[in-house]
Amino acid sequence: MDGSADFPEGTSVKYAGPRDYRTQGRHAVFPETDHDDCERFNYLAHVNRYIRERIQPRIEDAYNARVEPKFVAEKGRKPKDRTEARKLLLTEPMFQYYSAFRRANMEQRQQAGRWVALRQAEALAAKAAALTDGDPRLQLNPDLKIPKYLVDVHHHCMPGSYYEENFPGDVVNAANYDCGFFVTNGGAEGQEWLDTVGTAIAETLQAKFPDLKPKRILDLGASLGHNAVSLAKMYPDAEIVAVDAGAPMLRYGLARAKSLGVDNVTFVQGDVADLTKEFGDESFDLVTSYILLHEISFPAMKAIFNECYRLVKKGGVVVHSDIVKNSDQVSVCEQAIRDWDTHYNNEPFHALLRELDQHDFFLQSGFSEDGFFRASSASFGHTALDGRSTPEESALGGVMMVGAIK
Ligand SMILES: C[S@@+](CC[C@H](N)C(=O)[O-])C[C@H]1O[C@@H](n2cnc3c(N)ncnc32)[C@H](O)[C@@H]1O
Repeated sequence: MDGSADFPEGTSVKYAGPRDYRTQGRHAVFPETDHDDCERFNYLAHVNRYIRERIQPRIEDAYNARVEPKFVAEKGRKPKDRTEARKLLLTEPMFQYYSAFRRANMEQRQQAGRWVALRQAEALAAKAAALTDGDPRLQLNPDLKIPKYLVDVHHHCMPGSYYEENFPGDVVNAANYDCGFFVTNGGAEGQEWLDTVGTAIAETLQAKFPDLKPKRILDLGASLGHNAVSLAKMYPDAEIVAVDAGAPMLRYGLARAKSLGVDNVTFVQGDVADLTKEFGDESFDLVTSYILLHEISFPAMKAIFNECYRLVKKGGVVVHSDIVKNSDQVSVCEQAIRDWDTHYNNEPFHALLRELDQHDFFLQSGFSEDGFFRASSASFGHTALDGRSTPEESALGGVMMVGAIK
């Protein structure tokens, strides 16, 4: 299993691994990183790639060679669904090895990013404050009740998740998220600013709806604005409103956007399941989200789809970019592996999005069948977020856009 079988003698191998961490885009609030920090991030990104590209595919081999035949011999049938398949995988050394290695990689990624951000916590807060104090484009709401499903989870092993702050003006959690995302996406090429999604969304909408010229765009669950800033660059004449529950994300987000010379994004603290106090009906031409839905509880999901319908104008578009429902082309073993994040990566709702048809949610919230669409775009520019794709997903790296025009 040294991988040499993939490269028969005489094969010329082009480097396809992670780029160097030093190529990561730097802005005014990006944490300072020394030699050892950079090499730690490089090492962890390489390990992440290795786990996903070399170890993960071997699990299905082991499942087909050992796990399923043993089950069939005992029960006289194949495992009926991904839940049964996952329980069987728990006894398979290849899955155990993969799972322990992947969990350790994520914990190390979080600790690496957090260490970098924590040791300069005050300096980062001061830099963010200098760029955002008194700026009306930062609208925080200290009375906001953070949804319980967010408070209860340290998402993907990230201590304090997106919202925790330990002193006034704290931006540590945002800085950690930003500087360590390199590891999470395996040092993907073309992701210096982690901004290819907005490009993909804009290109897709321009091709599908050439008359759509959004003047006001709402980005839900915007975090520190990777997607919102990307949209702002694609639509320089539009006003982008980036909403998130986490104040550290928003402070850091505005400071980051301004230091990148992007001036058309306003960062608003709010609960995207209920924005009635913040915005009136039909306030936006375009409503987007990027990797929000897989972190949402079922009741909040319904509320968010209803809010999207309320907030978008007639003729406007709502589009969500995230992992999508398992199709029946996906083997039960593959489906079981996809549920890894739910069970071992503090992403309890990940599996929900693998079984939920967004089509139904769009229609139930008021959109018509005619207006519904699914899209893919090569411009997503990074390999699958969870490393695995159906054929249709793989065209765009495992993430799809699902949307509707009103
Ligand atoms: C994976 S991040 C999204 C990344 C982001 N869209 C980007 O472009 O980088 C998920 C975000 O959703 C936010 N979130 C989840 N539920 C929310 C809610 N009900 N209201 C507001 N924000 C929410 C979290 O605070 C977190 O920042």
